[in-house]
Amino acid sequence: MDTPELSSEPVRAPPVRRASVLAVTSGKGGVGKTFVTANLAAALAALGERVLVLDADLGLANLDVVLNLFPKTTLHDVFTGKATLEDAIIAAPGGFSVLLAGSGMVEYSRLTPELRTQLHGVVQTLLPRFDRILLDTGAGISDVVLYAVSLADDVVMVVTSEPTSMTDAYATIKVLSQQQQRAVIQLVVNQTSRLGEARAIRDQLQRVVDRFVNPEAEQPVKLELLGEIPTDAMVRAAVQKRQLLLETHPGCEAARAVKALAAKLVR
Ligand SMILES: Nc1ncnc2c1ncn2[C@@H]1O[C@H](COP(=O)(O)OP(=O)(O)O)[C@@H](O)[C@H]1O
Ligand SMILES: [Mg+2]
Repeated sequence: MDTPELSSEPVRAPPVRRASVLAVTSGKGGVGKTFVTANLAAALAALGERVLVLDADLGLANLDVVLNLFPKTTLHDVFTGKATLEDAIIAAPGGFSVLLAGSGMVEYSRLTPELRTQLHGVVQTLLPRFDRILLDTGAGISDVVLYAVSLADDVVMVVTSEPTSMTDAYATIKVLSQQQQRAVIQLVVNQTSRLGEARAIRDQLQRVVDRFVNPEAEQPVKLELLGEIPTDAMVRAAVQKRQLLLETHPGCEAARAVKALAAKLVR
């Protein structure tokens, strides 16, 4: 019997895998963050990733509504020690996991040192268990939203062509540059109505950022266009039915656009 030769190669431990954390945020509310996050999670799961969505819109959560889930346990129970993290992780339709938050909880409208520690701890604990963690944040520049975004490796800013959405996106990008020294922010232009609109919006925002943010920034901010999603009547129909667009209308234009975002992220 052959004796295997002793190799001189050092024995390497398998690489420690950790999730890549992506915050989905926006300047203005109602632009489609939760819709994008939930359907992107389903698209990433379909590509083989282990995905968890954390509803980081802590005080006004509605991921549960969009997914038609009625959680017995939420992040609030984890934070208050009434439940374990394990109990709060729920399987969502679409093949991913979710950690849901409650709604109307004024205690989460301010960032306290405890909330910081708790949120940070939850994300750290989840890192080795998933390939991708999506944070569905609230809109704007409140300290809770900014802290949630600070926990992410990458930021996706959802923006529409509405002037108010653009100016709020700009203001948020400015704060993310000043407070977090973000060098790259990915844009998803939602509810587009014509070809080329997303590129024009990216360029317009980049021009303003180059003029008013980058001269004072430690690192200049580059806005990358991750993708665009057209206005599609099927989106509203799916939200009304509390179902994922990728399940109700997987072939519609908006669903195909979300799948393209996922494919780009996986690449
Ligand atoms: N691409 C789209 N086409 C049509 N309607 C959309 C699209 N994206 C979002 N919407 C509508 O906007 C609403 C608000 O989206 P939501 O994801 O809840 O926003 P946010 O999380 O940013 O507050 C959705 O319920 C849906 O009716
Ligand atoms: Mg939302």
